[in-house]
Amino acid sequence: MSSKLFSPLKIKSITLKNRIAISPMCQYSAQDGFANDWHLVHLGSRASGGAGLIIQEATSVSPEGRISPEDLGLWKDEQIEKMQQINQFIISQKSVPGIQLAHAGRKASAASPWNGGRKLDATQGGWDTMAPSAVAYHHTENSLVALDEAGIQKVVSDFKSATKRAVQAGFQVMEIHAAHGYLLHQFLSPLSNFRTDAYGGSFENRIRLTLEVVDAVQSEWPENLPLFVRISATDWAEGGWNLEESVQLSKMLKEKGVDLIDVSSGGLVSHQQIPLGPNYQVPFAESIKNETGILTSAVGLITDAAQAEEIVASGKADLVLFARESLRNPNLGLTFAHDLNADVEWPKQYERAKM
Ligand SMILES: Cc1cc2nc3c(=O)[nH]c(=O)nc-3n(C[C@H](O)[C@H](O)[C@H](O)COP(=O)(O)O)c2cc1C
Repeated sequence: MSSKLFSPLKIKSITLKNRIAISPMCQYSAQDGFANDWHLVHLGSRASGGAGLIIQEATSVSPEGRISPEDLGLWKDEQIEKMQQINQFIISQKSVPGIQLAHAGRKASAASPWNGGRKLDATQGGWDTMAPSAVAYHHTENSLVALDEAGIQKVVSDFKSATKRAVQAGFQVMEIHAAHGYLLHQFLSPLSNFRTDAYGGSFENRIRLTLEVVDAVQSEWPENLPLFVRISATDWAEGGWNLEESVQLSKMLKEKGVDLIDVSSGGLVSHQQIPLGPNYQVPFAESIKNETGILTSAVGLITDAAQAEEIVASGKADLVLFARESLRNPNLGLTFAHDLNADVEWPKQYERAKM
C-alpha cells in the first residue's frame, strides 16, 4: 500500500512533495534579527533531509516583538538578503520555505534558554513589553504596558511590512503565530485580555486583532501562496480559550481565505495542566478539520514514521509537523521514507546511502 505521508499536498500554487514539515523552532542565534550561517545550515540540512516544508522560526515583526534579543526579525530591508539565500537553498532541495511571523507581546524581552530564559530588564539588554492588558505572565514581572489604539495599529502595520519583506525573501508559505501565549493569543484569551474596548470582552472583540493581522498579511501576501495560522486550541486552564472558540475562529479564518490551521496548544498561563503524551494535540487538529473543513496540521510528540502515517492516512490531519524529533534526526524525510517503503528522491550526494 502506498504511503499517505509521502503523498503530495497541493495548496494553491504550491505542491509539498510530502506531508512532513519542520515545525518553527527558535534558534536564539540571530544578531539584531539577522539570519546567519547557523540558520542556513539548520534549515538547509532539514531540507536536504527530505521534509516537504521547512517553517522558519518565530520571526519578529518588530524589535520589541522578539522573545529574546537573539530572535530572527524582518523589521528592516537589510534582514531580507540572508533569508533569500537560505530559501534558495531550500528550494534547490525540492522543499518549500515557510516563515512564521510573530510578536511575543508580554512574553518578549527574555534571555535565551541556555542563558536561563529569565525576563531581561533594560540593564540586561531587555525592553518594555506590551500586552492587551498590563497583566504579566509571572506576577513578579514589571515594565509591561497595555497597548493603546495606536500601539495596536502599529502591530498590524508591522505584520504588513514584514509580510512584504517575506515575499521579497522568497518565502512560499506564510504562517501567522497566534499560539503559545504570544501577543495574538494574549488577545484571544480571556485569561490575558481584560480590555473593555473593541479588542476585549466578547469573542468577537478578542479575535479582532488576529483578524486584522490576517487582513494586513493578506494585503501583501500573494493570493496564490498558502497562508497558515498557528493557534493554541486550548489554554489547558479553567476559564481560558478553548476548543469551541478555536473551531469558531477557524471557520472565520477559512472564510477569509486562510488555507491551514496549525493546531498546537497551551503557553498562555503558568498554571496550565497539559496531559502530555504521544499525539496529545492530534484530537484538536481532527476536530477543527472535521467541524470546519479547513486543512489542519498536527504537531506535538509525534516521533516516528508509522505514527505520522496513521495521522494522515486516517484523515486526522493533512500535514504533520516535527520539532524535537527533527533536531535528533535532520534526515527525517529520508529515513521515514525508508521506514514506510516509500521511494523518494535522495540528494545525489547521498544516494549511496539509499537502501
Ligand atoms: C527549540 C524549540 C524552539 C521552538 N520555537 C518555536 C517557534 O519559534 N514557534 C512555534 O510556534 N513553536 C516553537 N516551538 C514549538 C514547536 O514548534 C512544537 O510545536 C513543539 O516542540 C511540539 O512538537 P515536538 O513534540 O515535535 O517537539 C519550539 C520548540 C522547540 C523544541
